[in-house]
Amino acid sequence: MPGDPSFTFSVLHRICKLVVLLCFLHIAVAVVFYVRSFDFRLAFVQNQQSNNNISKSQNTDPVVSYGKVLEQPVKKLEKCPETSPLLVGPLKVEFNFTVDLELVKKENPNVQPGGRFKPKDCEALQKVAIIIAFRYREEHLKYWLYYLHPILQRQQLDYGVYVIKQDGNDTFNKCRLLNTGYAEALKEYDYNCFVFNDVDVIPMDDRNTYKCFSQPRHLGVYLDKFGFRLPYNGCFGGATSLSKEQYLKINGFPNNYWGWGGEDDDIYNRVVTKGMSISRPDSEIGKCRMIRHNRDKLNDPNPQRFDLLAHTQQTMDKDGINSLKTQVLSIQKFDLYTMITVDVGKP
Ligand SMILES: *[C@@H]1O[C@H](CO)[C@@H](O)[C@H](O)[C@H]1NC(C)=O
Ligand SMILES: *[C@@H]1O[C@H](CO)[C@@H](O)[C@H](O)[C@H]1NC(C)=O
Repeated sequence: MPGDPSFTFSVLHRICKLVVLLCFLHIAVAVVFYVRSFDFRLAFVQNQQSNNNISKSQNTDPVVSYGKVLEQPVKKLEKCPETSPLLVGPLKVEFNFTVDLELVKKENPNVQPGGRFKPKDCEALQKVAIIIAFRYREEHLKYWLYYLHPILQRQQLDYGVYVIKQDGNDTFNKCRLLNTGYAEALKEYDYNCFVFNDVDVIPMDDRNTYKCFSQPRHLGVYLDKFGFRLPYNGCFGGATSLSKEQYLKINGFPNNYWGWGGEDDDIYNRVVTKGMSISRPDSEIGKCRMIRHNRDKLNDPNPQRFDLLAHTQQTMDKDGINSLKTQVLSIQKFDLYTMITVDVGKP
């Protein structure tokens, strides 16, 4: 009955029970939310660690949890498309003017010191080191930089340009320079693709992408000098690309070719010996121009080249990147390229 003390007591008792129940409910809900947010933070930290390995983009979205901003996570850039939308196709390539490197630098403001570049808006599909064996040909190098930097940027590559210069005036050894370029580029960055480009070979179409393929790629294929035809089927010079795996599979390039000729054919023999084949762009896309010049001093035809070539199979596992002995004398970072000066030894 209302007014009866026992009735009042029983009402109070019920209210108390309800309050205790509510307290339990509140604690339970709090615990559930706490555990969830803990999981979330854990996942977030893991996610961030894996992102750090992939890209260091500044592009961020704040993560909001219960009204407060936790931290700025690193947003992963989308991968660049298989075919860059920036390509324009066939290009005019002429060598009848003087290149001013200051102007080239101004026209390519996104190229970083040492000749490095990566696209801003997407994650490049490959990291490409471009290796150029070099001596005496300053004018050719200027044309190369003038034409190639815009092309490589349109191809959306993460790339670096390495000019490997032979010190002194002794007989030229192109392959020792290229092997040294491979090793030195890898010390600088985690490249997974290597393009070996003669300084005087310029592609005439930007669809000829300077990247690596499932087989070693012949990029500088159809030269104006040969009427835009392949001079012979086993030709593998001018400009080529090999992935790191492909390069290591053939033990890099031979170290014992001095002077002009033979080394390209040796590299072809290595590729075929290891069960790979040459991939090439079609005859339109693969056109290139070669800068005309007289042969350099101390780069005479190598009289031993035919003898060496006959033994590639027997010598290739002992002679290559695993037996390279050269000495790096200097590494210079210029605006549009890295120059590495090397003592390659003597024949
Ligand atoms: C270079 O040659 C091309 C084609 O022969 C010509 O159109 C162009 O005007 C020349 N440029 C200079 C600077 O002489
Ligand atoms: C190499 O030859 C050039 C000229 O062709 C000369 O100026 C230079 O001093 C020579 N260098 C050496 C180390 O002999």
